Amino acid sequence: MPEPTIWWKHGIVYQIYPRSFQDSDGDGIGDLRGVIDRLDYLNDGTERSLGVDAIWFSPTYPSPMADFGYDVSDYCGVHPDFGDLATMDELIEKAHARGIRVILDFVPNHSSSQHPWFLESRSSVAASKRDWYVWRDAKPDGSPPNNWIAVFGGPAWEWDQATQQYYLHMFLKEQPDLNWRNPHLVAAMHDVLRFWMRRGVDGFRIDVMDRILKDPDLRDNPPAIDRNAARRFGQTALQQHTQDQNWPEIIDAVRAIRKVADEFPERMTVGEVFGPPENIVRYYGGPSLDGLHLAFNFSLVRIWDRRWTAEHVRAKVEAFAAALPSGCWPNYVLGNHDVDRFASRVGADGRGEERARVAALLLLTLRGTPFVYYGEELGMTNARVPEERLRDPARTYGRGRDPERTPMQWTPAGGFTSGEPWLPYGDLSRNVEQQSADGRSLLSLYRRLSWFRRSSDVLRFGDYAAVDGTPAGVYAYTRTYGDERLLTALSFTNEPIAFELPASLAVREQIISTHERAGAAASQLIELAANEGRLLRLG
Ligand code: GLC
Repeated sequence: MPEPTIWWKHGIVYQIYPRSFQDSDGDGIGDLRGVIDRLDYLNDGTERSLGVDAIWFSPTYPSPMADFGYDVSDYCGVHPDFGDLATMDELIEKAHARGIRVILDFVPNHSSSQHPWFLESRSSVAASKRDWYVWRDAKPDGSPPNNWIAVFGGPAWEWDQATQQYYLHMFLKEQPDLNWRNPHLVAAMHDVLRFWMRRGVDGFRIDVMDRILKDPDLRDNPPAIDRNAARRFGQTALQQHTQDQNWPEIIDAVRAIRKVADEFPERMTVGEVFGPPENIVRYYGGPSLDGLHLAFNFSLVRIWDRRWTAEHVRAKVEAFAAALPSGCWPNYVLGNHDVDRFASRVGADGRGEERARVAALLLLTLRGTPFVYYGEELGMTNARVPEERLRDPARTYGRGRDPERTPMQWTPAGGFTSGEPWLPYGDLSRNVEQQSADGRSLLSLYRRLSWFRRSSDVLRFGDYAAVDGTPAGVYAYTRTYGDERLLTALSFTNEPIAFELPASLAVREQIISTHERAGAAASQLIELAANEGRLLRLG
């Protein structure tokens, strides 16, 4: 009996950074009309397209753009750079007509300091929305209420001269934290979700889910154990975030959000949360499955060169699966708008593209929802953005996040805009036009894998089991559903490698090789070229 297909479990989700996907009006900034124009690229119902089942947008709301949309000044609108509500409605309708679901980014932890709620809140200590944000008196010596550090650096508290109190901001000072202990704020945010679901939005990626409630007593965070981490992750890594992140009461707020989502059929929520798998899976809500539908599993995002090994990747896949309570569904992510491009993270020796092919096979044959970041399907690398064109205010991460947010590469000349793109293009030798014409390109591999997955019950629903005893440098696993069984064999080495499969796993045929080579079809000897992945049907 085939299982019922639930889109957010069995489909492929594609992340669009809206400023950078497609500009339709020549202002150099991507927009919703541009996305509408590119829907056929995403899914036109044929194997010429990417075959994605859902798109999620980084924020498209009105915003002063201090953090490029993660500073929302109206939760129920569309920024004029991107279009208007009517264009969003049209996008939802046209996406749905192609079987593509639409997921918006919901930003509950903070608003913009220009949001009317905050303007009212900061107008006086007696303001009716004062308590919608987190205001506190200074310590007797005038210093902030505690030692919390903003994720983007500096103290998490900003002094308000007019009302003589500090307000909390876990990110920029232009992003004041909302107070999820205030029931009126909570009700208003729930109504935001309803507003969009009524318009047909299918779900929400929930930003900074793990910080919306903090220690009500605002106690200090203890110092970090590994102070060296600050070199990589900035000042915030100087502390253990025991009081301002993953606070236990957040799960109650998550359950309430889930209830709102459940007022509408087939909606989904996926939360941005950090920490070890045991922490992340808490957000699914436990055996009653009353929390988030998915909580991002960032373990493959935290991989760079020296961690791209068969042993490490297998361990990460299995640690997450093992931590998941029964009934919960895994997910995998290679990259997003906050981290270096995957092909760059594993490409210090120039072999990033080969590894990106292996990663595509991994992502699209594991048991769990795959999330693809725009351009990953082309092997887009970090762009070199000259100092004077850097835009991201969050320089915590060294050079900021601009290099992974550059325009989508449609043609050898770019094809993203008729004007001057807001960020420069990266390496345009990787582009949709050329890769579409080349059956051996990474894009063609993504398309083949995606359409194969869409038609394959065993890849969408099947059980996962690792094959033990493979040589160092090889990670192999089977997916089984009924009497169908597939084998994925991945090489993580720069040398050819071969291994014998146990007789219980008889090879019938090859479905896909990342190297596009025929391979010895029905042999028990699995040969892999350097950094090759193969998907085989077992008999
Ligand atoms: C999340 C977003 C990031 C943003 C931050 C503040 O981590 O992914 O881009 O800057 O939240 O909203």
